[in-house]
Amino acid sequence: MTPATTTLRPDSTPDTDTGDVISRPATPADKFPAPFANEYAARASNGGANPPDLSVIARSRSGANGSGADYLYTYLRSFYRDETRPTGWNNRVFPNVGMPHVLWELQGTQRAVFEDEKGEGEQVEHVFKGLKLETPGTRSPADYNADVADLVAYLQWMSEPAQNFRVQLGVWVLIFLAIFWVICWRLNAAYWKDVK
Ligand code: HEM
Repeated sequence: MTPATTTLRPDSTPDTDTGDVISRPATPADKFPAPFANEYAARASNGGANPPDLSVIARSRSGANGSGADYLYTYLRSFYRDETRPTGWNNRVFPNVGMPHVLWELQGTQRAVFEDEKGEGEQVEHVFKGLKLETPGTRSPADYNADVADLVAYLQWMSEPAQNFRVQLGVWVLIFLAIFWVICWRLNAAYWKDVK
């Protein structure tokens, strides 16, 4: 892979004679430079919400309800139009989210459908009935879902690149333990055969 650009990297060192910061070509191992100088600048540009570091987002969003990948897949498919929000978007998974629907051109625009249903007594409940595609995007719903699945798989890999190797290794460890168990079982029988 050829270095993409010649830019200042976060670990660029100053020239010890002049104090000038020396730029060096970027390498694939470099971190992504943060787009904002600090958290306040990030919040100021995003209506008060701080965009999270996505490099470990898949791990940080895993929990009792499923893996982080499950969450991200649903999150990125659950944006809908909401004119009451500053960005014009809301999200079923993250109510009043600060992030706009950046993939709307691909997915199109969805509306949240609510229906009034009779609750207990005189109460009328405003029940969520689903998201309806109002204007289609450049991708069909199936293709958009597949694109999001690919994006989430990437985020998942990025959160823990060693995971694939760990899972592969785990299979070999289980095979080894199974064979070793048979050896121990037969050895045990051989050692005790004159005693019993
Ligand atoms: C494909 C690109 C993007 C992906 C995959 C992505 C994904 C995410 C994820 C997973 C979250 C965390 C949700 C949570 O906390 O549960 C998030 C939050 C956020 N994102 Fe994005 N994002 C993308 C692009 C952007 C862009 C371009 C912007 C700015 C215009 C943005 C602004 C934000 C903000 C402000 C939040 C914080 C929301 C809040 O705390 O209310 N995102 N994003």
